[in-house]
This record gives sequence, structure tokens and C-alpha cells, in this order.
Amino acid sequence: MRYRRMPIEVESPEQLGYSTITNNLSESSVSDRRLSDLGLDLDIDDLLLCYGDHLGDPALREAIVAASGGEPSGLGPEHVLVTPGAAAALFCVATALVGPGEHLVVQRTNYATNLETPRAIGADLTTIDLAYDGGFRLDVDAVAAAVRPGTTRLISVTTPHNPTGVCLESADLHRLVEIAESSGAVLLVDETYRDLTHNPAGPPPIAATLSPRVVSVASMSKAYGLPGLRVGWAVTSSPELGELLLAAKEQIVICGATLDEHIAGRVLAARGRILPPIVADVRRRLETVRTWMAGQDTFEWVEPAGGVVGFVRFRDGVQVDTESFYARLLADFGTYVGPGHWFESSDRSFRLGFGWPTHDELAAGLAALSACAAGG
Ligand SMILES: Cc1ncc(COP(=O)(O)O)c(C=O)c1O
Repeated sequence: MRYRRMPIEVESPEQLGYSTITNNLSESSVSDRRLSDLGLDLDIDDLLLCYGDHLGDPALREAIVAASGGEPSGLGPEHVLVTPGAAAALFCVATALVGPGEHLVVQRTNYATNLETPRAIGADLTTIDLAYDGGFRLDVDAVAAAVRPGTTRLISVTTPHNPTGVCLESADLHRLVEIAESSGAVLLVDETYRDLTHNPAGPPPIAATLSPRVVSVASMSKAYGLPGLRVGWAVTSSPELGELLLAAKEQIVICGATLDEHIAGRVLAARGRILPPIVADVRRRLETVRTWMAGQDTFEWVEPAGGVVGFVRFRDGVQVDTESFYARLLADFGTYVGPGHWFESSDRSFRLGFGWPTHDELAAGLAALSACAAGG
């Protein structure tokens, strides 16, 4: 592995220092929660801090299946591998399936790790770029053309997507599954934002319900505001793939943190109480951004269909020195966003996170973007 730090991590708000930012519009989750916010009435003094089940706490895995819309299609707790965050699940998938020189197809822009880990492995990447003018819809024909039957190891997509918030259309997802099945590749679907789908009907079942060639990844970080728990998971109905991912996890951490997994299991078991107010709040925030967006003519976006981030860009014709814009936005307006280079894109675009700040900070941050662009 050839590791190097990614700009999104080097320049992350926690590394910069939260105290240096007033309006933090750079985050990709809902507001972080305290244990006391969750109403769990935890009594954990007797919790045995043993090496736990290597797949993950059984109660947590049951809760993950129940939350995945998976039971009707035969997914069970034995198909779930709990990992330290979705990040570790993605790392297990990439390192277990792709070796140096081996081929994969990855959507770009993307959550940076989905591109960087294959590069660190020394894999042969074909990137399929998302285009603003295409509404950031994945070009599945381009994926089909890039896949080398019998050779391509992995097809990697994210839905709802980070940083655009765009969701894969059902027909596109089904085509990707067919491409994976006919070519022998594994389809990785990073569904870390699934619980924050804006469609009032809620999200479809996880993609791993569609085929044993699919691995679905998600975590407690984004929708529940619990990134400090470091609990994520990978789900696949393929016993061989599951065994391979378990081998990867065992070499990295053996098992997960007993305490984190216990708490995550309790949160997910109370999902029916904890999640709906979060989802309702996210929709109010989306409305705030929608109203701001409609009232100015400097920026534009493809409105997200899920998650708490969108990829905003300066409209064509708007003259801007992006380096000085982001520097002034922070220094003069206390406002921080995720510039395009975090996502291998032009800095004329930036990720706007609307789930994490308070409502007042969100409004102030949006006003700051307008004022800073106006040179105020
Ligand atoms: C799409 C996506 N996947 C995975 C992760 C990793 O999250 P975690 O490891 O906290 O679950 C992130 C975090 O930003 C993400 O946006």
C-alpha cells in the first residue's frame, strides 16, 4: 500500500480546529449527538469488554438487517460484517478484492477514499466522471463500456452520493447489477446516506438484496450523527465474499469495539423513535437552502435527492478567484465549505453541508456565501 493523506482529511474542520469556524457548512453528516440526546437509558457498567463476535455484535447485526429492508429477500445477520465505520468496510472491500494492477471502475467525483484506496493499492482505475450538465447522473453505458469481462474486479458507486446528493435511479442500479453478474465483477454500493433519502416514500431496500455479487456499505455516522461511535458495516448475501471480508477485518482489527457496537445496536433498535425527527429536520434544512438558492444568481446546484450535502458551483460567467474566495469566506465570514479539490473537481464547485450546523449558522453561512461572492 502506498498511503498519502487526502486533502479532504488534511483540511477537515476537525483538523483545522472547530473553534476557528463559526458557520461550518463543510460537514457531511447531521449534527453530532451526545449520548444523553439519544434517550437510551444505558446501563453499561456490567458490559463485558471482551473480544466480541468477529462479525459484530449479534443484536447489532439483527438491527442492521431490520433497518435494511432486507428480510423479505433472505438477508440475515450472518450476512452482515460490522466494521469501524463505513471507512473500514470500504477499505476491507477494496483490499480484499483488488490487487496491484487489477482493474476496477469507480465513479468520480466521489467520497475521496473510494478513489484513493484503490490508488494506494496500485490498482488500475477507470474513473467515470459525473457531469453537472447531466444532473450528475451516472453514465451506466460508460460503466458497461469500461468493464472488462473476466478481468474487472470491482465496480464502485455511491448512492445517495457524496458530494452531489444524487441518488442512483432504480433502472440504473439494476443495470449495474446485471453488468456485475455478467462480467464477474463485484458491485460495491456505498449507501452510507441511505437513511437520509428525501423521497417521502423512504429508501428502497439495500442494494445487497438484489444479488450476491453486491456489497452494500453504510454506517451510524451520517444519519444518526454518531461518527465517533466508529460503527459501520458491509452486507453481502454471498458466503464466499462474506468470508473474504471477514478475513480482511480480522487482519485489521480482529473484532470491533464492544462498547461502540453495544451502543449502536441500542440506537438502531430505537430507530423508529430516533430517525424520523432527524429526517424531518433535514428536509427543513433542504428547504432553507432551496429558498436561498432561488434568491440569488451567483451559485447553482443540482438539488440533492438524499443526504445532507450538495455540490454547488459558481454559475458560468461569474468571475472569481477561488483561492481568495475560500480564504476570505473563512477569515472574514467565519464560514467553511468543502472546495472542489477535496473531490478531484474544480474549485469553482464546493460541497455545501446543510445537516450539521445549527439552523442559525446555516442561514448565516448561506448569507456569508452571497456576501463574500459580492465582494462584501
Ligand atoms: C459516502 C461515504 N462513505 C463512507 C464514509 C465514511 O464514513 P464513516 O467511516 O464515518 O462511516 C463517508 C464519510 O464522509 C461518506 O461520505
